[in-house]
Amino acid sequence: LKAPGTVFFIFGATGDLARRKLFPAIYSLYREGKLSEDFAVIGVARRSRTQEEFREDVYQSIQEFCRYKPEQAPEWGEFAAHFEYKSLDINDIDGFRELRVQTEQLETKFNIPGNRLFYLALAPELFGSVSFNLMKGGMLEGAGWNRLVIEKPFGYDLESAAKLNEEIRKVFKEEEIYRIDHYLGKEMVQNIEVIRFANAFFEPLWNNKHIANVQITLGETVGVEERGGYYDHAGALRDMGQNHMLQLLTMIAMEPPSRLLAEDIRDEKVKVLRSLRPYATSEEVRNNVVRGQYTKGSADGKELPAYREEDKVHPESLTETYFAARVFVDNFRWAGVPFYIRTGKRLPVKTTEVVVEFKRMPTNVYLGQKHSLEPNLLVIRVNPMEGIYVKINAKKPGSESEIAPVAMDFCQSCIVGINSPEAYERLLHDAARGDSTYFTRWDEVASAWAFVDRIANTWKEEQGDLEMYPAGSWGPAKADELLQEDGFHWWPVN
Ligand code: BG6
Repeated sequence: LKAPGTVFFIFGATGDLARRKLFPAIYSLYREGKLSEDFAVIGVARRSRTQEEFREDVYQSIQEFCRYKPEQAPEWGEFAAHFEYKSLDINDIDGFRELRVQTEQLETKFNIPGNRLFYLALAPELFGSVSFNLMKGGMLEGAGWNRLVIEKPFGYDLESAAKLNEEIRKVFKEEEIYRIDHYLGKEMVQNIEVIRFANAFFEPLWNNKHIANVQITLGETVGVEERGGYYDHAGALRDMGQNHMLQLLTMIAMEPPSRLLAEDIRDEKVKVLRSLRPYATSEEVRNNVVRGQYTKGSADGKELPAYREEDKVHPESLTETYFAARVFVDNFRWAGVPFYIRTGKRLPVKTTEVVVEFKRMPTNVYLGQKHSLEPNLLVIRVNPMEGIYVKINAKKPGSESEIAPVAMDFCQSCIVGINSPEAYERLLHDAARGDSTYFTRWDEVASAWAFVDRIANTWKEEQGDLEMYPAGSWGPAKADELLQEDGFHWWPVN
């Protein structure tokens, strides 16, 4: 499905996100015929750049980060002609008025029907004033629709998120706002719905009668890289927990929506977030949530620095680079089923994986067995490997009645491989087509913050429970104890 003729405004056009993700995404959409020919991109940033310099930046970024290479494309010049730059101080209304003139000229030149998509790859503190100045500068008076696409972090807690939301809502309606959680753009995250709702052998079992627990792991091998300034203020709970992890959890736990429409799906997701059992006391936080920070360590024979030695990180920082939690979804379907979630920097593998552990079979038929039966597992591999596998028990070939677990494996990335679209590509395409299914609605964001705030507030008051773990390890032992208390263990990730 082609997106309609649109002008894409990339605010923060000289930044990292634009370079690594957004320009390559636009180019891939173009190469795949998913963009209307009537499109234009205006890069907006403070720095001064000539049109030629900007097009050269775009070329370099695509050449480096896109799976399609412009050097092999004869139509590159034609594509690049759709890109323009505007140097702008976002507090200067006159700059926005000039931008309006530039936009109208481009719309005439490329016959674009006045649809405008504003992508703010900027610090969230600027969302409010950019929105306001877009309105003041007459940028929202085109003949088509206006949409605002914004990046995380959406606030620091519920209060600041609500304030931020109020500011942008003065200018844009909720249905015009597309809040990015790039995990929702990942192929396998979107696939969770299909796996659940299109398979007769999963949905009937998808409840507390058959599922023992769910484990969600978002492991990263990287440290904080050059983002110490931001990260030391945010920490793993805000950086990954409030958004990506809780979003994954809602996809696993939500009820089938009444219709496969954005609003119905989002209604179901928000119900899950509202059903999360809040930790009522600090003791409950302590008993159910573990936080950690990496110290010096090594991986693949390479020495890795401690978090506190990273650039722009406070040398006595108490920020968590890891957390694990036991979460309950208190509704009819999930009562009593623990969801264990964990994420961390400097873990041994880069992986996003969901393991659904089914309840064990009564073993009476095989009582003679030396070993107890392994439970069935459904494993959804989101990132970087994409696929699903199911672990079932079968007779060990050649044996009398010995049973061994075998895996039925479907590797999506093995088949689709390098050509599968990137999350940002899908999300930009969706936003331009007006499909908000995989963007977060305000009530989802607010409910997620309400849950996370309780943990963060306890942590702020009690700082003694930060567990240290060596870089390159699987995090603090305390996170294993969380599961052991319930008679479970983390399944090794692949
Ligand atoms: C971002 C976080 O949202 O997600 C980063 O801010 C993290 O800290 C990144 O590294 C992980 O995304 P992905 O797609 O590489 O798993």
